[in-house]
Amino acid sequence: MSAWAAKPPERLPAWQRLGALAEKGRRAGVGNRFEDFSARLGPLLVDYSRQRINDEVRRCLVALAVESGLEAAIDDLFSGAPINNTEQRAVGHTVLRQPKDACPPHAAQMRERFLQIAQDVRDGSRRGFTGRPFECVLHIGIGGSHLGPELCLQALGSTPDAPAIRFLANVDGAAGAAALAGLDPATTLVVVASKSFKTLETRLNAQLTKSWFLERTCNPKAFAKHFLAATANVQAAREFGLPAANCLDIGDSTGGRFSLWSAVGLPVAVALGRAGFEDLLAGAHLVDRHFQDAPLDANLPLLLALLQVWNTNFGGAATHAVLAYDHRLRSLPSYLQQLEMESNGKSVRRDGEQTGTHTAPVVWGGEETNGQHAFHQLLHQGTRAYSADLIACIRHRHRLPDHHRWLLANCLAQGEAMRDGERALSRGSARGLAPSQENTVEPHRRVAGDRATTTILLDALTPHALGALLALYEHKTFCLGALWQVNAFDQWGVELGKALAEPIHA
Ligand code: F6P
Repeated sequence: MSAWAAKPPERLPAWQRLGALAEKGRRAGVGNRFEDFSARLGPLLVDYSRQRINDEVRRCLVALAVESGLEAAIDDLFSGAPINNTEQRAVGHTVLRQPKDACPPHAAQMRERFLQIAQDVRDGSRRGFTGRPFECVLHIGIGGSHLGPELCLQALGSTPDAPAIRFLANVDGAAGAAALAGLDPATTLVVVASKSFKTLETRLNAQLTKSWFLERTCNPKAFAKHFLAATANVQAAREFGLPAANCLDIGDSTGGRFSLWSAVGLPVAVALGRAGFEDLLAGAHLVDRHFQDAPLDANLPLLLALLQVWNTNFGGAATHAVLAYDHRLRSLPSYLQQLEMESNGKSVRRDGEQTGTHTAPVVWGGEETNGQHAFHQLLHQGTRAYSADLIACIRHRHRLPDHHRWLLANCLAQGEAMRDGERALSRGSARGLAPSQENTVEPHRRVAGDRATTTILLDALTPHALGALLALYEHKTFCLGALWQVNAFDQWGVELGKALAEPIHA
């Protein structure tokens, strides 16, 4: 594996040309640019026609990708090179979603083990110590060992025959009490998901749940029938008291925030069944193939990353909003927050030198249309630059089609208002003010527009489409790491706070 770029980003010729282009001024493109600035990828439609770019900027961004060695970077990701250079590890999450015939035997075996357990829990062939089937799966884990599974459960729901799924992440005792309230230990299966099996919150919550179980059952032998671990640290899970057969390996090269596709996704497999989980993997794999094969100028994850660089480094956007126009995707902002900020919130490059450019913006967002009545005021008239993704599903699953039309209309309207500003307002509002009042109020009503947004539409919120969406963002994140030349796969920064809590607690 060689260095991907010959020079730091800001010294690359394309970076400097982009600087000059940004000086010339950037406006969101007007008119119908959809044909030129949109692309479909399986169940996803990515419309970036409302970005502040033109052909020249796009060409220059792609040139930046070439100069940054993105082709080599993508090859290294898929070939298993140790690209997580500060931990000397390969990055293996794409292997986990390879189809059976292409999957390396070890990964196929890991997958088969947890899918079989999920199936056995669902059909009742795996039962609790009293012989009763499981009615609830309690998933204990935090960060990457929590956000993906919870997002999937909220987004996709469960099939009617699946047990209930609960999550416990926070070390707050109130969360622990709420997670255990009303549970019957005889019908509860506990999954402790932790790559390291060392994380304080997860250790405490696992111990809490173990004590809760043993106090109520007074049957230590029953423990092994009710507890499983999804981890890369099998030894620590064994020390927690689990037999080897209950420890589901997720593999050392599976990063925490990329671990949904491993046994950490067990509750999702329990909720959806084998076929549903395999669809999720297949959706992600479709995007893996595209990412690996598509030329750089048509490579969607890369284009999203380049647009982020353009907005963050050349447009002053310190934040990126994820606006989820779907109640079921309400956790997507938190999921992407971890994915993008933990991956690329760095200020030292892969070579150990201080970065000379900004890296990850603050990723935030919320469920829409709720956000429109909370923070969109700032998005329309605030002083700070930002970029945003608006995400919606074309088809819905409920029986309220008119609600859905309003939801989509709002999504498109917000994108339009953010781009067109006043042009949209003059078409859209007639408040019946007297001319004298109009003059006073006019400056307050003015919406400048010219904000950069991308709209991502899913045909429908299926496991396949969600898998594709998450993989799209994973690869965007990887590309950003390569463009900013930081290691997107470590997270040393979170260690200090953890270490400091120990003596303070003592
Ligand atoms: O503290 C951050 C972090 O290390 C994340 O990267 C990770 O997803 C989370 O904690 C949980 O870690 P683990 O899966 O090892 O319990």
